[in-house]
Amino acid sequence: MNETEKRSRLAVAQADFHEPLAEVAKHHSVEVMDHEVSVFLKQMPSKARILDIGGCWGWHWRKMDASAWSPRVILLDFVPQNFKYAEVILGSIFHRSVLPIEGDAQNLPFEDNLFDAVWTVQTFQHIRDFDRACREAWRVLKPGGKFINYSLHAPVFLKLIYWICGKKFHLKGEVPGRFYLRRADAEQKKTVETIFRGPVEERFTECLFHPDLRFTFSGKEGSLLGDLDAQLGAFPRLGSLIARQRSFFAVK
Ligand SMILES: C[S@@+](CC[C@H](N)C(=O)[O-])C[C@H]1O[C@@H](n2cnc3c(N)ncnc32)[C@H](O)[C@@H]1O
Repeated sequence: MNETEKRSRLAVAQADFHEPLAEVAKHHSVEVMDHEVSVFLKQMPSKARILDIGGCWGWHWRKMDASAWSPRVILLDFVPQNFKYAEVILGSIFHRSVLPIEGDAQNLPFEDNLFDAVWTVQTFQHIRDFDRACREAWRVLKPGGKFINYSLHAPVFLKLIYWICGKKFHLKGEVPGRFYLRRADAEQKKTVETIFRGPVEERFTECLFHPDLRFTFSGKEGSLLGDLDAQLGAFPRLGSLIARQRSFFAVK
């Protein structure tokens, strides 16, 4: 377990944010991820059991209802202090449709073949042993269960801007005092293919959202630019050049 990451996440969880979703929008495009969630949920059977690894503030699930047919999401995080904000964002569905649990992605506290899906966003990128985290996800999925992992991407566009500015572009390794970060790469795709013994579908998302370049206004909930950005996920060639996120999707 990465203690540096845990400490830095705990410090964030303990800070005071009056508008937690506005804080999220500085780091993720809310419109893009809302679109990704809705596409993902359409593939789920009724009463699906979904595991969100590194679920943090749980904001992806805030539009779900608590009807008997809705999915149940297990929000797993190794910093349970994050659930304070999950409660604020999720309101009445917290503890009903979205259930928090403290745990480590590398040693999931669940039996085999339990979940219809594993959803994980910008969490495996912080785990040194990507292979182990993927094997754990595979283990807890039912046969036919779906896995999707979003990580930061290394688009040519961003690398070029870093190069022009004379700054080092971080691909893999420790970000001192904060966390370990490894951007999505071909080797990881191969790892997922090997573990899931089948093809991996890739998506490139957040083309118009780049906090590194202080380009974050498209991240806000209701942003028209964010809405346009959500549609750009359908253009992988463009996305592979400019998108901030890259995801791997596989079926057990
Ligand atoms: C960058 S945040 C992403 C949060 C959330 N998925 C989202 O999209 O907003 C990474 C989260 O993963 C959690 N995390 C990192 N490593 C973990 C591990 N090994 N096991 C469980 N949670 C972990 C952190 O505490 C943090 O909440």
